[in-house]
Amino acid sequence: MMEEIKAMLREVFLTKNEMTFPVSGTGSAGMEFCFVNLIEPGDEVVIGVNGVFGTRMADVATRCGARVTKVEAEWGRIIEPAQITEAITGKTPKLVAIVHAETSTGALTPVEEISQIVHDAGALLLLDTVTSLGGCPVRLDDWAVDAVYSGTQKCLSCPPGLSPVSLSPRAMEVVKERGGGVQSWYLDVNLLANYWGDGARVYHHTAPISMAYALHEALRLVLEEGLENRWVRHESNHQALRAGLDQLGLGIASQEGHQLWQLNAVTVPEGIDEAMVRSSLLNDDGIEIGPGLGPLAGKVWRVGLMGHSCQEKNVGAFLGAMKGLMAGAAVD
Ligand SMILES: Cc1ncc(COP(=O)(O)O)c(C=O)c1O
Repeated sequence: MMEEIKAMLREVFLTKNEMTFPVSGTGSAGMEFCFVNLIEPGDEVVIGVNGVFGTRMADVATRCGARVTKVEAEWGRIIEPAQITEAITGKTPKLVAIVHAETSTGALTPVEEISQIVHDAGALLLLDTVTSLGGCPVRLDDWAVDAVYSGTQKCLSCPPGLSPVSLSPRAMEVVKERGGGVQSWYLDVNLLANYWGDGARVYHHTAPISMAYALHEALRLVLEEGLENRWVRHESNHQALRAGLDQLGLGIASQEGHQLWQLNAVTVPEGIDEAMVRSSLLNDDGIEIGPGLGPLAGKVWRVGLMGHSCQEKNVGAFLGAMKGLMAGAAVD
């Protein structure tokens, strides 16, 4: 079953990387896994920060002793390739990290051009695909991504508790050439490979086997639907949501042309009590949406259409409930 999980993860990540398996722990464990294995104290790292999770990556990299350069964009906007070029000019970063789908803002940063710039500079590219995997195209090998982590509880529609990761042969070379050992015993890829590799299954830590069964089934369902069909479903429900929001006079806050299908940051109109709307949706309609975070707190609602929950009937239920709430607010 472990071999099947690895094979299905390769299909979903669109990669041939041998080192592809689920790390025990949620998406943040996958984030730490990538940094602790690839970074040694003093290494230069460039990180795109356009929301909560880029901020978290910078924190994790700093804790690994990296010298971190942050490439910042306003929350809701993408990291532009030109910003990466500017940040690495005159430097020799070991690694550049970006968040593909920023769940805190609803922005999808395109990867290909950035990947080219990063590789021309001789650096590794690390990508956070926690919210993108299974909901929109993620093409590890085509985009030459060297290190990636994801989560199970977003568009894979599995309980939280594992973090699918993948390291390219180039990234594995960097791990092998490290001067010092990996400072985390739990997340050391060399030790984990003895268990998850196709060899002896050497005990490392007790595997969360119920999660492995859950991920196996979730991946089976993703592949049964078909990756591309799943992307199309996410895109069409996003378009239906956008059209319905438009009729209610509501818009999406994240950068036009780079809006996530699976996470919609809806602008809260002037004079509306955003928390009241969320609690009415939850208590009266059984619909839970997220608040804005950081600079977007109070300014957006975050409407998830991820994996199994990305359905036409859910879009309709949300729009119907919002129509009532907006009409009530207008009367008040
Ligand atoms: C883009 C992104 N990265 C990382 C994480 C962290 O994952 P977790 O909360 O599963 O540890 C999340 C969680 O929402 C996320 O959306």
